[in-house]
Amino acid sequence: MKRIVIISDLQMPLENRRAHTNLLNFIGDYVPDEVINIGDITDYTAPSRWSAGKRAEYGMSVKEEAAYTRRVHLDPFRKVYDGDYTLLGSNHGERPHKYLAERAPALADGDEYKEKNLLQLDDYGVRFEDLKYDFAPNWTATHGNAKGISLSRIAGGTAMNAARLFQRSVVMGHTHRAGMVSETKGVEASKTLTGVEVGHLMDLKKADYLGAARFANWQAAFGLFYVDGSNVQPSIIPVSRNGSFIVEGETFR
Ligand SMILES: [Fe+2]
Ligand SMILES: [Fe+2]
Repeated sequence: MKRIVIISDLQMPLENRRAHTNLLNFIGDYVPDEVINIGDITDYTAPSRWSAGKRAEYGMSVKEEAAYTRRVHLDPFRKVYDGDYTLLGSNHGERPHKYLAERAPALADGDEYKEKNLLQLDDYGVRFEDLKYDFAPNWTATHGNAKGISLSRIAGGTAMNAARLFQRSVVMGHTHRAGMVSETKGVEASKTLTGVEVGHLMDLKKADYLGAARFANWQAAFGLFYVDGSNVQPSIIPVSRNGSFIVEGETFR
């Protein structure tokens, strides 16, 4: 039986610190067979279309944010867990290099601003998968921003749309919603596809771009998958407002 922890959308330095600390304690305790991070690990608040022309664009915060992710996430993560860790490409992850390629293409020939290098993933022994990662039989992990995946307001609905597109069950982040949707087709040789969205691990209070109300139709959570041969059981672990959560009857707070 393989146990895989799937986390997404920490958006560092906008992460929920308590949830993140509890998560590291859980991973150190539980020692899963594998951890998958489905992306948006760093926010890179600037550059983005939201910060264009504003003060944030001149803040030169890209390297600072990458250093924060290394110091606050990757360093302590590697202290508690030395197993398989895979990071998927994402819209926030590709922001710095994309910005350079669009605004200063003459300087974008190098890989310095690619996520893999900003986060020094090789030094941390973290594998990088740009678009998707087939992590179990009939299951694919993808961030969720790929072309052709239509968005749904219903938690799990966007992942279900991706599953229809890939004709494989899909686990994703990106929507910041936590939910699961399944669809079964065919009578004799019926096939079930499932879409899972694993939520986010942000602190909404830190996200200025949410406006004064700091509200969004988002759910804090992460995923825990059990894989036994071709038998895959997805589950979503909701994270409460104070950052605590329950796994297999044990509270992490
Ligand atoms: Fe995100
Ligand atoms: Fe995203």
